[in-house]
Amino acid sequence: MRIYLDHNATTPVREEVADAMQAALRGCFGNPSSVHAEGAEARAAVERARERVAGLLGCEAREVLFTAGATEANNTLLAPLLRAWAGERRHLVSSNAEHPSVEEPLAALEREGWRVTRLPVSQDGLLDPEQLAAAIGPETALVTLLWANNETGVVQPMQRLAGLARERGVRVHADATQCLGKLPVDLAAVPLDALSLSAHKLGGPKGVGALVVRGEASFEALLRGGPQERRRRGGTENVPGIIGLGAAAALAARELGEKRREYARLRDRLWDGIAAKIPRVRRNGAPGSLLCNTLNVEFEAVAGELLLQALDLDGIAVSTGAACASGRVEPSHVLLSMGRSAAQSRASLRFSVGHGVDDAQIERVLALLPDLVARAREAGAA
Ligand SMILES: Cc1ncc(COP(=O)(O)O)c(C=O)c1O
Repeated sequence: MRIYLDHNATTPVREEVADAMQAALRGCFGNPSSVHAEGAEARAAVERARERVAGLLGCEAREVLFTAGATEANNTLLAPLLRAWAGERRHLVSSNAEHPSVEEPLAALEREGWRVTRLPVSQDGLLDPEQLAAAIGPETALVTLLWANNETGVVQPMQRLAGLARERGVRVHADATQCLGKLPVDLAAVPLDALSLSAHKLGGPKGVGALVVRGEASFEALLRGGPQERRRRGGTENVPGIIGLGAAAALAARELGEKRREYARLRDRLWDGIAAKIPRVRRNGAPGSLLCNTLNVEFEAVAGELLLQALDLDGIAVSTGAACASGRVEPSHVLLSMGRSAAQSRASLRFSVGHGVDDAQIERVLALLPDLVARAREAGAA
């Protein structure tokens, strides 16, 4: 049996979600835009899923726009929606530790003449609210921030940050892809104007997500070609995927308290074991502000990708923050933004627990890891 500790990359589809999707694939084939009974049944299923997502977030169903995932949600925000909101303003505030699905659209906007302020994060990965307040000016059209970092699990004080932007009359977006099912996301309490999410990070299928836009917002569709999603996203809806997202959202709403405690307990057990058994390790990210399921560890003088491969051969799936670009292992921009060196970044691994992980699995990892780290260090020294 393999041990999967890479739940921030993607999560296995939950049984209840697969059942709901299978029933939809077999029995709910209508086109939601059709006026006959088959169409009406599919439309009703899509709207039920929209309500479930809204229920998880504390917003209204009509504010949920289904997309093909968080990447599309972020791209919809950072072109058509931004243009509708910006008026004459041409300044954006973000951070230097964003997900590429925000960072790359920001860079594209810069090439078109927009000015982007990327706030630095501290050594612990946290943003400074005062720096945000200072960065906002009369030209600022939008603040867009990653709520919880996928690599380190660092959770930003979003209520405070969003409140600061709001007080200055500036709209705020959060990429909450890593938050759902792991921390409370209540749009009745956090003053956000938009939020992105993805089904496959919370037990749902890949290729479906949502952009939540508060209030009445009309903007050009990113994908033009039909009246779907109130003309904000053309194309026949991914009905089984949307039903799967709805089922995952309902599960997340029901289980949040219990899962949070369980994930944190397993994650802490893993870290306590690593710290007790392996010398020269350190944890990346502010310990008091982390997602309940995420542990990012630097194993000094270890080549992270080799340790990852050794763990994989022993049946354990983890992740390096580093991305493999053109055959070269690039250090994680997130860890670099926290002041780590390229070598420290390459020596870091991310363990992310989730549904299906248990104590026996954590014990097995702790039984194998010290020896694998020692061997990786010897290989590096040779
Ligand atoms: C924080 C964050 N934003 C956006 C995405 C992109 O989501 P999707 O895979 O649905 O496009 C991911 C997942 O990789 C993520 O972790």
